[in-house]
Amino acid sequence: MGIDPWSTDLGLSLCSLVQDLTMTVLVAGGAGYIGSHFVRCLEEHGESAVVLDDLSTGFAEAIPDHVPLVRCAIGDRAAVRSVLEEVAPEAVVDFAGLIQVGESMRSPDRYYGVNVSQTIAFLDEIVRSGVKTFVFSSSAAVYGNPIRVPIDEDHPKEPINPYGATKLIVEMAARDYARAYGLRVACLRYFNAAGAHADGTLAERHDPETHLIPLAIDAGLGRRPELTVFGDDWSTPDGTCVRDYIHVMDLAEAHWLAIEKLRNDTPTLSLNLGTGNGYSVRQIIDAVSDVLGKAVPYHIGPRRDGDPPSLVASSNRARNVLGWNPTRSQLDTIVQDAVRSRT
Ligand code: UFG
Repeated sequence: MGIDPWSTDLGLSLCSLVQDLTMTVLVAGGAGYIGSHFVRCLEEHGESAVVLDDLSTGFAEAIPDHVPLVRCAIGDRAAVRSVLEEVAPEAVVDFAGLIQVGESMRSPDRYYGVNVSQTIAFLDEIVRSGVKTFVFSSSAAVYGNPIRVPIDEDHPKEPINPYGATKLIVEMAARDYARAYGLRVACLRYFNAAGAHADGTLAERHDPETHLIPLAIDAGLGRRPELTVFGDDWSTPDGTCVRDYIHVMDLAEAHWLAIEKLRNDTPTLSLNLGTGNGYSVRQIIDAVSDVLGKAVPYHIGPRRDGDPPSLVASSNRARNVLGWNPTRSQLDTIVQDAVRSRT
């Protein structure tokens, strides 16, 4: 007897085939700014996410209701072990961690505790579970003060703040784990994540907010006092610090491409994620003023400890290796999306 293609049986098996083709990714720190945008990116690619987040800095509202949220720290080995067993994810992407340069100078113990000790415990559990694909949120802060700009991946790594040091330590551990345990690892070194999903439903949200673009927008909207510019006596064209701002959805897309690349058996990747264009703090203030149609009030304050004067990426490797093409990272698009998400 032939198979009736419309029978319930075949329908069900097609259903399970579709499910099998859907990849589940465990997203640690998925309730945070970049993590929640990555969850959205996964969904736009038709894949599934399970979020693991202790909500110490993230927000449950940033996760869609249908996405499971497991509230636990990455260093909670027992909880992480049972999540990994239950979910059996195809890949783990780790956005969990502390991210403030200034705070890391004042409280290095917290940074080494969360960003190193807890992250290594998390890595151990990942290896133990048999998951083979790991994507790690690293940072341009691993390079320290650039000796050449744009910064390529082979640039010396001499972090000048504990935040950057903790990221570099985990990169080294992850590469050693890759060699010894067959883990496939991508370390993605973000330059300055900025902007928001174009539909305005997700936003850059930190408490307290310390990042330039949201602070400038809020100052321009009169929601907070004037912005303090951290120094105008740096060795840069206008004296204020220069950064490479990359749209958060372009950043998210690079994680997706990295997973695909690792699944094709590439063992380790270290990639810069930036645009190659640097903007000074003054240029950002002007861009925000243009989009808002009103001046951003600011004054010049002292330098912030741990800030390098200029961080601009060479992103050729990510473009070549991943086929990555950041399409939303023009400064006006970043600022427009950021403003939309805050108004
Ligand atoms: N800045 C100000 N005033 C403020 C806030 C920031 O002048 O109130 C300046 C900073 O000194 C810096 C620039 O604006 O020159 C950007 O500062 P952010 O705090 O927005 O971002 P950072 O460059 O300090 O750090 C960010 C991420 C890090 C990452 C780094 C890589 O938070 O995780 O980008 O470039 F490592």
